[in-house]
Amino acid sequence: MTNIVIIGAQWGDEGKGKIVDWMSEKADVVVRFQGGHNAGHTLVVDGTTYKLSLLPSGIVRGKLSVVGNGVVVDPWALKDEMKRISDLGVKITPEVLRIAENAALILPLHRELDQMREAAAGKGKIGTTGRGIGPAYEDKVARRAIRVGDLAERESLPGKIERLLAHHNALRKGMGEALVDGEALYRQLIEISEVILPFAEPVWKTLDEQYKAGKSFLFEGAQGSMLDNDYGTYPFVTSSNTIAGQAAVGSGMGMKAVDHVIGVVKAYTTRVGSGPFPTELFDETGDLIRSEGHEFGTVTGRPRRTGWFDAVLVRQAITVSGVHGLAVMKLDVLDKLDELKICVGYEHKGKRLDTYPMGLNAQAEVKPVYETLPGWKSSTFGIRDFARLPENAKKYIRRLEELVGVPVDVISTSPEREDVIIIRDPYAKA
Ligand code: IMP
Repeated sequence: MTNIVIIGAQWGDEGKGKIVDWMSEKADVVVRFQGGHNAGHTLVVDGTTYKLSLLPSGIVRGKLSVVGNGVVVDPWALKDEMKRISDLGVKITPEVLRIAENAALILPLHRELDQMREAAAGKGKIGTTGRGIGPAYEDKVARRAIRVGDLAERESLPGKIERLLAHHNALRKGMGEALVDGEALYRQLIEISEVILPFAEPVWKTLDEQYKAGKSFLFEGAQGSMLDNDYGTYPFVTSSNTIAGQAAVGSGMGMKAVDHVIGVVKAYTTRVGSGPFPTELFDETGDLIRSEGHEFGTVTGRPRRTGWFDAVLVRQAITVSGVHGLAVMKLDVLDKLDELKICVGYEHKGKRLDTYPMGLNAQAEVKPVYETLPGWKSSTFGIRDFARLPENAKKYIRRLEELVGVPVDVISTSPEREDVIIIRDPYAKA
């Protein structure tokens, strides 16, 4: 029995879906523990591409797939996603999909508020996915959210709606927006409840039963550590905790949850949305990485910002998540480069820093200190054996390990699930 947490150790989009899919073959249960349908996990299985947003990646392989209480659930988006994925031949039944009854819902008013705020923020916008994630978490923390299980208790629902709208309609009035009609929202919720309630249950209990039966778990993180609400580049972050500790809280598994934490990184860095990005490239190398790496958002289609690997940020991410080993994705994207840079520290106001400062101005002002390594200028595409990598690619990987302080478990060399170099199988280790 091995329980593994997989998290992004950069700004999301590291390729977690492929690693989760690859590992989910050995796991019995796959669990999402934070975020919502702002995530975009692309899996390529036997030539078919599956784009998942809210559903745990295990669903494609028929594994017990759990949406934990740390997730915010848009039931309408869930309905669309279930239809899209079912149309590809995947079975989605209450046998395989379980949704926490105590997860907070994302409602249309959350999406509208997210988009209205972003539109009003001009240059100061966060660059959210516009899915209502932030406003839904705000309502959860403010104790006025409507939760999945509330849909089953129809008598108390109108009172909850009234409480929620007392807040939202005051806000909407102030913003000059149309007010939300409570009765219409009630009807919408009753209608959608038929879609979601068959999957709703106390998942903490199911997980405990599975645990006691000796099953193994895979906790599937979304976004990345630098988007974590506490440890990321706040306020340009998402509204959940994306680091590994959230696996325990956002599922109800508690501290027994974890044997091994894998931090997923790209061999370079990308970011979508606004906010600081010290190693960002604005030149043709950045363009080359974007085109070679197909760096366009799964959820929004936005071009991703691209840059060099930042060993300082990844080292911090590893520390706050207790990462044991890295999965390095998309090594092949760097095949054509003459040389590669790795950020090993920063300079700020004449001082050398070996951690990322907290202040917003300082975060934007730091200049990366780079170490330059020669490129390998040959194809690594599809290589599955470390010994077959070009020498300079091996040196690059070894240097990353030294700089971030944990070993590389896995290297990915193409989008295909079998194209991985396994240096240390976490299942064998644990
Ligand atoms: P939100 O999660 O939609 O509120 O967006 C907040 C920030 O997180 C924005 O910079 C988004 O671009 C970013 N973000 C949210 N989800 C993802 C993801 O799955 N991958 C990468 N960035 C994301």
